[in-house]
Amino acid sequence: MKSVSVTLKNISKVFKGFEGNDIRAVDDVSFNVNPGEFVTLLGPSGCGKTTTLRMIAGFETPTKGKILIGEKDVTFIPPWKRDIAMVFQSYGLFPHMSVGNNVAYGLKMRKVDKNKIKEQVSSILELVGLKGFEHRPPSSLSGGQQQSVALARALVVEPSVLLFDEPLSNLDVLLREQMRVEIRRIQKKVGITTLYVTHDRTEAMTLSDRIIVMNNGKIMQIGSPNEVYEKPNSKFVASFMGKIAFFPVEINAVEPGSIKVTIKGKELILKKGIKISENVKYVLGCRPEGLYLTAPKKGHIEGRVLTNVYLGNYVESYVETEFGEIMVKTEAGTSGGFEEGAAVSVVIKEELAKLIPDD
Ligand SMILES: Nc1ncnc2c1ncn2[C@@H]1O[C@H](COP(=O)(O)OP(=O)(O)OP(=O)(O)O)[C@@H](O)[C@H]1O
Ligand SMILES: [Mg+2]
Repeated sequence: MKSVSVTLKNISKVFKGFEGNDIRAVDDVSFNVNPGEFVTLLGPSGCGKTTTLRMIAGFETPTKGKILIGEKDVTFIPPWKRDIAMVFQSYGLFPHMSVGNNVAYGLKMRKVDKNKIKEQVSSILELVGLKGFEHRPPSSLSGGQQQSVALARALVVEPSVLLFDEPLSNLDVLLREQMRVEIRRIQKKVGITTLYVTHDRTEAMTLSDRIIVMNNGKIMQIGSPNEVYEKPNSKFVASFMGKIAFFPVEINAVEPGSIKVTIKGKELILKKGIKISENVKYVLGCRPEGLYLTAPKKGHIEGRVLTNVYLGNYVESYVETEFGEIMVKTEAGTSGGFEEGAAVSVVIKEELAKLIPDD
């Protein structure tokens, strides 16, 4: 399969609201998806993910900016001339057509030879794990299977770019996990350039080569799942990627490979520091796995265990502190656990703490 890049240059989309007001759905967004890459647009409801995807598909025209597929400027080209396929949250299958005919639809429109269609349909159904389902009506399939048919229908026409808008939102949790792995496997196998929209960070982490975190129509950060989780560039991204506690911090000394900071008069030496800019205020960010509990100890954050939540292999302890409620994760069965109501100290694991620009 041919793989092409997708490029957005300073794309904005302004809708007219009912009161004649301007709704800036997408605000000066620029990014590049490399050939064969899997990139996810991640962000809260209303941040402009779907609008961005619809502009790439050609269902919306940008108010400003340019969209390129490969080298070609497609900004004002209609959807059917863009060589793109899209998979939606509501599978959008034709209910009166068999699974086989649903998948064959795009090929028939392209006047592909009958025998060739049969061959391609059966091979693509095998790829998505639905071998032999040709004659079934879509209504006789589970939600996950119907979404697989929608995926087969998108792939069979061999588009240059595949777009997904929350394709797994209608499925139950277990099926969603299964389908994630499936989508990743198929995308890698086919090597198709893919842009995926979700508000589910776990989904974004599992699937993507790179994640674009959006908020209020703007890009907050672009990076690998590891980068956006481990090196968030803002409190927004840090919190959106997972539970995190923030502590006020003073930076004392920046040395090669380490940064000395104080929190509550106690000095910590951070190893994996980010680049520190002079005029930026920072907070210290600690994820639940970067903290642990001890018996009350001078110089650490004092607190009291409010609630313990048992989750099989680990326990989440919610601890009341002067910095608000903090969640600490402890492996079940280890000595790190304390009863609800117990007075404790929260200790920061220096090697896992990160400096994050205060926004
Ligand atoms: N056709 C439209 N007319 C007016 N406003 C619109 C239109 N389409 C989207 N919007 C607004 O643009 C903003 C972004 O919407 P969009 O659908 O892109 O968000 P999203 O990130 O996909 O959200 P969700 O996760 O809820 O699907 C929202 O405030 C929305 O109300
Ligand atoms: Mg949406």
